[in-house]
Amino acid sequence: MDRHGGWFPQLFHTLRIRLIFSVALVHVVLMGLFTWEAVHRQSQELRQEMVNQGRSLASLMVVASTNALLAEDLASLAEVTRRVGEREDVSYGEIVDVRGYVMASTRDGRVGRSVGPVIKVSEQFPLVKTDRVLDLRQAVLIGDKPVGFVVLGLSTENLESALAATRNRGIQYTLLALVIGSVAAWLLSITVTRNLHALTLAAKRIGDGDLGARVEVRSQDEAGTLAHAFNSMAASLQRNAREIEQEHQKRTEAERLACVGEMAASIAHEIRNPLAALLNSVKLLGDQKLVKDDHAIVTRIVDTESKRLQRILDDFLTFSRLPAAQLQNGDLKQLVEETVELVRQDPRYSGRITFDCRYEPDNQCLFDPDLMRQVLLNLLLNAMQAMQGEGKLIVRLKRNGDRVNLSIVDNGGGIPEHIMSQISKPFFSGRKNGTGLGLSVVQRILAQHTSVLSITSREGSGTEACFDLDRENHG
Ligand SMILES: Nc1ncnc2c1ncn2[C@@H]1O[C@H](COP(=O)(O)OP(=O)(O)O)[C@@H](O)[C@H]1O
Ligand SMILES: [Mg+2]
Repeated sequence: MDRHGGWFPQLFHTLRIRLIFSVALVHVVLMGLFTWEAVHRQSQELRQEMVNQGRSLASLMVVASTNALLAEDLASLAEVTRRVGEREDVSYGEIVDVRGYVMASTRDGRVGRSVGPVIKVSEQFPLVKTDRVLDLRQAVLIGDKPVGFVVLGLSTENLESALAATRNRGIQYTLLALVIGSVAAWLLSITVTRNLHALTLAAKRIGDGDLGARVEVRSQDEAGTLAHAFNSMAASLQRNAREIEQEHQKRTEAERLACVGEMAASIAHEIRNPLAALLNSVKLLGDQKLVKDDHAIVTRIVDTESKRLQRILDDFLTFSRLPAAQLQNGDLKQLVEETVELVRQDPRYSGRITFDCRYEPDNQCLFDPDLMRQVLLNLLLNAMQAMQGEGKLIVRLKRNGDRVNLSIVDNGGGIPEHIMSQISKPFFSGRKNGTGLGLSVVQRILAQHTSVLSITSREGSGTEACFDLDRENHG
């Protein structure tokens, strides 16, 4: 069902149907008026003509019957009515004396009857519509004195059929005009709507992103002008889109180069210190005079510095080759416990840090275990690093509707307000030894879990990092 409540109103909203309907209406109204006028005029003329004919026939009867009336010569009067009755268009003819007695009639059984005071007015021609007869009466006068009346009825059948013929012809012409008008309107609408249809299709294609869509300019009329305007609009759109695309490409290329440059600088910066330490150590190891204790120290340096190099490389590799997440249902609590334990065991950070971990039961949710371990590790390490070996780490895992929420709170140094907007950018680090990739890796992984990382922090009092995961697959 359409919003207008049926197929007809919807059909009527098409330009084609409206055009056809309007033209048809104009034709029907005009032809109807014309026919009515013609029938009316013809009817007036024919009636007048009939009345004239009737009058002259009645006058003839008056002349023919005057003497016979005076002489009360019934035979002659009968002859008059017989002759009159022979005419095809005469329905009846009667001669009545002054007292109202019928002296002669074309109708049987009327002679001798009194028709009473009916015939009082001499000149009256009422048209009796119901019996299709034009009734005429005329007085027979001697001087001013009436001696009788003639009554004449003329059949209006011919008149009626002539009028009916005119009316029928009018209806036929109206129908013909209706058909011709509708066809003409239809042809006109085809030309108009064909142009509109082509424009609609082209506009749709442009809407779908095909900016190369154009319409054929078929005429020099308004439709042609519109098509022309449409084409220039599409061309200008295409030009603009191309420029924007080129601009975008240039910018992304510049951004990419800047990113590569930043990455290279960051790698160089990160690698320089451990590399220098390694080179020095190698040199010292080659020195014969090195005592045994110093030898052990240098070997330890070689070990830590190569591990540091390893970590830097690992971070970069994780960042640049993040795999697509394989979501599966699992117990997040187990993974959180494992990762917290891993950090707690790490002598570099744990120091005098107390752990407060509370996990609500039923923590089944959707995640990629490997990637989620990376997320937890990055967030936990950031918290540990912020506390610098002393403080309290709170980890909370709880259900929140159809999602599971994880929050990691530390009471470390917090994040200064002015760097808050930058901490998630790749290569931004607020720490001396940071690669600045931890949080951007977290964000990218969470995005694959249709989740976002939220960080709230107050400088000097601590930081909370939290996110939540879907319990069921909604996609
Ligand atoms: N829990 C936190 N407490 C204080 N600062 C933090 C915390 N987490 C992140 N930051 C700040 O955000 C920066 C970016 O973090 P990250 O992307 O993990 O890179 P990195 O740890 O290598 O510096 C950190 O250098 C630090 O300044
Ligand atoms: Mg980090």
